[in-house]
Formats: sequence, C-alpha cells, structure tokens
Amino acid sequence: MKKGTDGNPVILALCGKGGVGKTTVAAAIVRELMREQDAKILAIDADPAVGLATALSISVEKTVDDVRNDVIDLVKKGKAGEKERVLGLIDYEMLGALREQNNFAFLAIGRPETEGCYCQVNDLLRDIIAQIAGNFDYVVIDAEAGVEQVNRRVLETVTHLILISDCSAKGLNVARTIHAVAQEAVKFKKAGLVINKMRDYDREDFILPEEITFLGIVPECDDIRRADMRAENFFDLPDNPCFCAVREILASIGIGKKSEVRG
Ligand SMILES: Nc1ncnc2c1ncn2[C@@H]1O[C@H](COP(=O)(O)OP(=O)(O)O)[C@@H](O)[C@H]1O
Ligand SMILES: [Mg+2]
Repeated sequence: MKKGTDGNPVILALCGKGGVGKTTVAAAIVRELMREQDAKILAIDADPAVGLATALSISVEKTVDDVRNDVIDLVKKGKAGEKERVLGLIDYEMLGALREQNNFAFLAIGRPETEGCYCQVNDLLRDIIAQIAGNFDYVVIDAEAGVEQVNRRVLETVTHLILISDCSAKGLNVARTIHAVAQEAVKFKKAGLVINKMRDYDREDFILPEEITFLGIVPECDDIRRADMRAENFFDLPDNPCFCAVREILASIGIGKKSEVRG
C-alpha cells in the first residue's frame, strides 16, 4: 500500500525563484521521509543547475539527458526501429540513470549542452515521472527555478506543490505566478507556500499572498549555511531548526513520520 491516502504515491515538487531554498528544503524533506521505515523514496533533481545530489551525497554518473542522447545515437545508427522499441529502450536505459541504495533512488535531469534540447529533456522527464512514480511511496522533485516546468506540464502529475520563497517581494511574486499557472497545468491535491530563510527581524515586513495557502516558515539556520559551504551530506547532519520546521510542515499536510504517529 502506498503512503498516499488513495493508495497512490505522494509526488512533491518544490518550486520557486532561484536561490530561495528549493534544493535545501527538498533535501530536508528527503532526509525527513527517510526516517519512515520501509518508505520507498525517489528524489529527482530536475534543475539543470544541480545541487540536490550534493546535499544527498549522491554521485551522478548518468542523467536523463545522457539517456536521451544514448537513445538518439541508437536511433541514428538504425539500431532502434519503431516507436515502441525506442520507448522500451528508454525504460531500460533509464535503469542506468536511476541510482538506488536501500529504499532510496535518485534521478538527475542533467544539463543539455545545446539550448534547444532542454524542452525535449523536460518532456522526457514528464513521461518518466508518470511512468516510474508508481514504484515509490514518495517522489520529491527539486524543480528548476521559475515557472517553465510548471507551464510545460513537466510537473503535471505532482500531488503536492510546495512553493518556496524567501521574504523578498521578488520571491513572493514568482511563487504567485507559479501558483496561478499551476491551477491549469498541475493536477495537485495540495499547493502551499513555505517562507524560507526567515530571520526574526523579517517577521513584520512582508505580505503573504492571500490566494496561496500558507504552510509555514523555515528559519535561516547557520548549520544549513555551513553544510552548504562544506558540501556536507544532509543525512549526516544532526537535527537543526530547519529540519524541525520542515518536519512540522510535512506533518501539517499529512505526510511523514510525525503525521503517522498522530494518526
Ligand atoms: N533555511 C536556510 N538557512 C540558511 N541558509 C539557507 C537556508 N535555505 C537555503 N539556504 C542557503 O541559501 C542558498 C540557496 O539555497 P538553495 O537551496 O540552493 O536554493 P535554490 O535551490 O532555490 O536555488 C544556499 O547557499 C543555501 O545553503
Ligand atoms: Mg537548487
């Protein structure tokens, strides 16, 4: 039985402006979900700027973009044939890109060398998410900055859309835009806003968008800043205020160990 209440996987995507903390919160969520016994987790680094792999201590050998290029090569060499066979090859090849250890799997979209290819690799990522999410209890997607992956329906099957912002008006505006586009392009069950990197003196000074459910605050935390500087693995870090806040937020949307205990 999957962890979602309807027996389907919980597919979370973290979206927002660059630098607001998508990767940090995504890694903290994976760390939190790993505390749950036997939960099968897939983490997807869908940002070509990468980063999630470092926080989760994964060395990426093959990306979705590499798989795509391998398949294109096979087709060019005439070794692939009809469409079904090409799709079959992608499935098979994808196993090579899917890093697995214990109950935890990892997939990175990679960085296409030529600009024009990025939309195609995004399309492939959308199909992959739809195809393999069912093998997991939780899929956590660290999305690309901005609205493009939502707009292009790459995140179509996401069940929980987590918009991340700092206290800046720019960050909040990007969250607003993504939320508006997601109404059409994502079949989410829940969407909400997390304010990250909050300092005490920021508290009075920003205005929350009324149209987005507010999920909670993640404080600015020295341990996170230091871990990022030293490229430390989130799994090895002791609990800190950022992890605690993420745990509370997950529990508030009915996800994770704490919400299970609460029933
Ligand atoms: N809660 C936090 N406390 C302290 N530093 C943070 C926190 N969240 C993010 N950061 C730092 O902010 C920077 C950007 O965060 P990151 O997660 O890489 O953003 P994004 O993935 O949205 O571009 C990183 O240096 C990260 O360590
Ligand atoms: Mg990032």
